[in-house]
Amino acid sequence: MKTIAVLGAGKIGESLLAGLLDAGRAPAELMFTERYSQRAAELTGKYGIEHVDVPTAANRADVLVVAVKPQDIDPLLDEVAPLLGPDKLLVSMCAGLPAKLFERRLAEGTPVIRVMPNTPMLVGEAMSAISGGAHATDEHLELAEELLGSVGRVVRVPEQQQDAVTALSGSGPAYFFYLVEAMTDAGVLLGVPRGTAKDLVVQAAMGAATMLRDGPENHPALLREAVTSPAGTTAAGIRELDKHGVRAALTDAVEAARDRSAELGRAHD
Ligand SMILES: NC(=O)c1ccc[n+]([C@@H]2O[C@H](COP(=O)([O-])OP(=O)(O)OC[C@H]3O[C@@H](n4cnc5c(N)ncnc54)[C@H](OP(=O)(O)O)[C@@H]3O)[C@@H](O)[C@H]2O)c1
Repeated sequence: MKTIAVLGAGKIGESLLAGLLDAGRAPAELMFTERYSQRAAELTGKYGIEHVDVPTAANRADVLVVAVKPQDIDPLLDEVAPLLGPDKLLVSMCAGLPAKLFERRLAEGTPVIRVMPNTPMLVGEAMSAISGGAHATDEHLELAEELLGSVGRVVRVPEQQQDAVTALSGSGPAYFFYLVEAMTDAGVLLGVPRGTAKDLVVQAAMGAATMLRDGPENHPALLREAVTSPAGTTAAGIRELDKHGVRAALTDAVEAARDRSAELGRAHD
């Protein structure tokens, strides 16, 4: 069994620790680093996982999962880099930071895997896209898949697609929240109480998502056609979406998010 250290136990770090425990890992195989002692004590009390300092994590763990904000990476790497080597695996969750940024700072041959997760990790429904750096083997990628698989789904992508992934699944939940918000407001306009309107919209979203992911028919266009009867209600609604250019707006939104992700990555390079 590999020992795993989560460096930075914020929202994403804590979700991963909780998922790993749920998946059957023993607390003794896990550790975390955290700057605030109060937060560290809270997590140890909640999960029974040891709080360690960064050098201890680097020395003891086989896998180091970096879950600090990208702007906090430099001081962390100063501390951790001299202690790592080819026998350790570094898994970075830092949005926008390329694998080569880590490789430049770490001993030659240290394997690095870049991950783009998303916030549904908090409820075990993450989509994590992983890309291996120059020294990551298939075995390393399988290990990352196993770890991240405890908090959702995992897909391998070439690293040059990570900005597009950020735009789709990284920012994606926010677009769905935005749609739910807008549809709920529309329901209120039609006289439905806000709580009921939100329940109706959220359950429609859950149902649609489940059909798309698990249904025997999972093609979005075919599913939409199936509920668009001639001269019916859905056709009237879709005409308005087309008239207002919603499809084009979504394309532009995803493209803008991809470009912003690339820009942030360049700022760190
Ligand atoms: N949340 C998302 O939707 C999302 C999606 C994709 C990717 N990510 C990535 O996941 C990472 C974590 O995001 P998050 O939302 O979980 O952030 P967060 O809640 O701010 O967590 C980061 C944690 O790391 C701690 N930290 C910072 N520097 C440290 C150090 N040197 N040693 C130990 N702990 C340190 C922070 O402590 P302090 O409280 O002291 O600052 C904080 O507890 C980020 O790189 C982000 O880009 C997040």
